[in-house]
Amino acid sequence: MEKVRLGVNVDHIATLREARKEGIPDLMAAAKEALSGGADGIVCHLREDRRHIQDADVYALRKLAKRLDFEMAATDEMVEIATNIKPEMVTIVPEKREELTTEGGLDVVTIFEDLKPKVAKLNAAGILVSLFIEPDPVVIRKSKETGAAYIEIHTGRYAIAKDPKPVLDKIIKACNLAEELGLRVNAGHGLDYQNTRAIAEIPQVEELNIGFSIIARSVFVGIKQAVKEMVDLLNA
Ligand code: PXP
Repeated sequence: MEKVRLGVNVDHIATLREARKEGIPDLMAAAKEALSGGADGIVCHLREDRRHIQDADVYALRKLAKRLDFEMAATDEMVEIATNIKPEMVTIVPEKREELTTEGGLDVVTIFEDLKPKVAKLNAAGILVSLFIEPDPVVIRKSKETGAAYIEIHTGRYAIAKDPKPVLDKIIKACNLAEELGLRVNAGHGLDYQNTRAIAEIPQVEELNIGFSIIARSVFVGIKQAVKEMVDLLNA
């Protein structure tokens, strides 16, 4: 079985920096630490309201990381930025101004007509496109029709479930369907040192994108060590 890659989301470092707007903690230094702890890539989300990651951060992260996953809303502005930056991957996420974090998956069925040309533009720029979606068969089938190469399964509901088994089963079925349709699979949201292993064991999952739990752990042990602990868990 191929090793599952780890993308470390650094948005929360930028959130801390933006709390004072005095340039610390240094986002690039933090991303370097994450890479030296064994992260395969860096993930960042440039939100429409620029509440954490700023435009200049994305350009700097582009230079630093061999694999950059740029999370963005499906807007013309973001497509333009992505085609300038040329990350290895764009993950399209739903975005609401009032939310604390990305709350649900992309409603691909409703936004299909708007989404499809944006996916085509990104594909034409040589960028792999991933759609952040719930493990729902209807949404998975529609995702395939957009021309995106990847889906990222939203694991948020699994992460907070009192009984995670039925949600995990749903995710496993979703991954099987994605494979049947020729879609490649990433997963993320709410994954931590306790619940990640079961998701990493799903054969179709290529990459996990994890932010909050790693950054929270790094308050006690530093980013490099917090990332290393997650990598060790994935390799165990
Ligand atoms: N994947 C996507 C698409 C996300 O939007 C987020 C949150 O920014 C994550 C993964 C990481 O989630 P968490 O911070 O809960 O690990």
